[in-house]
Amino acid sequence: MAESCAARNAFWRHFTTVFHLTPFVFPLKLSTTMEKVRRTLIAGNWKMNKTAAEAEELTRGILAEIGKVTDVNVVICPPFTALERVSKVLGNSTIQLGAQNMHFEPSGAFTGEISAEMLRNSFCKFVILGHSERRAYFKESDELINKKVLSALHNKIKPILCVGETLEEREKGKMLSVIKKQVLGGLAEVSKEVAEEVVVAYEPVWAIGTGKTATPEMAQEVHGAIRKMLAQLFGPVSEKIRILYGGSMKPENAKELLAQPDIDGGLIGGAALKASSFAELVKIALAQ
Ligand code: 13P
Repeated sequence: MAESCAARNAFWRHFTTVFHLTPFVFPLKLSTTMEKVRRTLIAGNWKMNKTAAEAEELTRGILAEIGKVTDVNVVICPPFTALERVSKVLGNSTIQLGAQNMHFEPSGAFTGEISAEMLRNSFCKFVILGHSERRAYFKESDELINKKVLSALHNKIKPILCVGETLEEREKGKMLSVIKKQVLGGLAEVSKEVAEEVVVAYEPVWAIGTGKTATPEMAQEVHGAIRKMLAQLFGPVSEKIRILYGGSMKPENAKELLAQPDIDGGLIGGAALKASSFAELVKIALAQ
């Protein structure tokens, strides 16, 4: 889809230059209502993996394969200790840097924490917030996550707000109420003016690192419901907010997931730790 759009755009640019016409650029992705919608985003969450030297090596591998991609937004999120080194390696490439967490306060006596300003100084453009591993192991609440989301936006860092239900919650039929609480709680007091900067990641907890993936239909059901929640919060701007799927997304299942109307990309764990599989995912997204 992206490649055929690029080819069409090149043709029209040439055509309109020759005939002195105003160029019309086709949107990269069309919604069912034929309006311009969201640019696909593929983000790699490296979790607690890779020393700084290993992170550099992986980044170089990724750059060699997809360092010039523009039609899909690509983000990598190494551990804090590798951010500086990775940002130097990324240089002026089109791949953007993200972090995996942050504190909501700007500075102060918060031993072991990292602020939004520190992330911005390390050239982070994104930050993953409220990942289910942080909710489960570090008892992060929606209220705390909301403070982080507001602080990230205030500091011009795009928050990737993670939401998702456990298997038990799904089996008890509580899936959508759990997700609604996480979406409304995490995005409380976010204004319509900045809502477009937000990214939501739907990560069913039972699919993370397990090899089990939601079927495209299961994922679309939740993504569609999240889109409606965003519409309640932000009105028409919700059409511009990207909703990523995370939970064992890999080259073998990405095509069908990314083909769903409300799946705007992926938040990738295991498959982001190898340049070849991460690059393959980006190429699949490009071909949509
Ligand atoms: P996996 O892709 O390893 O299932 O991890 C998903 C995830 O937690 C991304 O944040």
